[in-house]
Amino acid sequence: MPLVTNKEVLDAANDGGYAVGAFNINNMEIVQSIVTTASEMNAPVILAASQGAISYAGIEYLEAIAKIAASKTDTPVTLHLDHGTDFNVILQCIQHGFTSVMIDGSHLPFEENIALTKRVVEVAHPCGVSVEAELGRLVGVEDNISVDEKDAVFTRPDEAVQFVEETDVDSLAVAIGSAHGIYKGEPKLDFERLEKIDNKVDIPLVLHGASGIPEESIVKAVKLGINKINIDTEIRLAFRDAVRKVVTESDVYDPRKICGPARDAMKEVVKYKIGIFGSEGKA
Ligand code: 13P
Repeated sequence: MPLVTNKEVLDAANDGGYAVGAFNINNMEIVQSIVTTASEMNAPVILAASQGAISYAGIEYLEAIAKIAASKTDTPVTLHLDHGTDFNVILQCIQHGFTSVMIDGSHLPFEENIALTKRVVEVAHPCGVSVEAELGRLVGVEDNISVDEKDAVFTRPDEAVQFVEETDVDSLAVAIGSAHGIYKGEPKLDFERLEKIDNKVDIPLVLHGASGIPEESIVKAVKLGINKINIDTEIRLAFRDAVRKVVTESDVYDPRKICGPARDAMKEVVKYKIGIFGSEGKA
């Protein structure tokens, strides 16, 4: 079926008490591994392209690959801009069939984040495109955005209420202790904070930096109101490990024999994540 919006799949997740996986895409094999697995599991799924992915693959390629993948399944698939910081890229995504955009103004002072997010909502909503914003700052590196530990800020529940009211965003990424990239120690989520935010804010909440978070914490976060969970690093690691295995253990030089096993390995990651997010069978 055609691509659907994040609002559609995330509002349903909010009502049903589960989370939809948002997996980062950079090439055809990654898109195939995500959409084939979601289709086999009857699970809605979000294809997340960062600004870096768009520079790498080209926006037309990502648009075309995502649309073809969606057209081959009856499960809802969305195409979402992850961590948009550039207003022009947001406009480009809207023109190129993205059904959702994230505006990441989390580095800005509160009022400026509101103003920027409002501006994006004003252009995206009339085009039927959903908007995700971020309040609070996650530590770590995602694509070309890097945040030091000293600059990390947890989301304040009262600010979240005001932010959502003033911006009219469709979903909100919250900072509750997760981090982008590979964790150094055991990730500890602030569940009390999440519960407070969820009690005050009606729209779907988003957990970034979810690679490496133990299963029981993911399940608890979903129970306490998380409806979208972002996974990038674990897909990258599965790709890297599978490619490394083939090229170190054989003389293979056919790209299909190198990328094929990587695609299978990424499918396993997606399958496990969809299972623990609770979105299997929710298509
Ligand atoms: P990870 O790299 O920790 O999986 O985080 C992905 C993410 O939050 C993308 O926005």
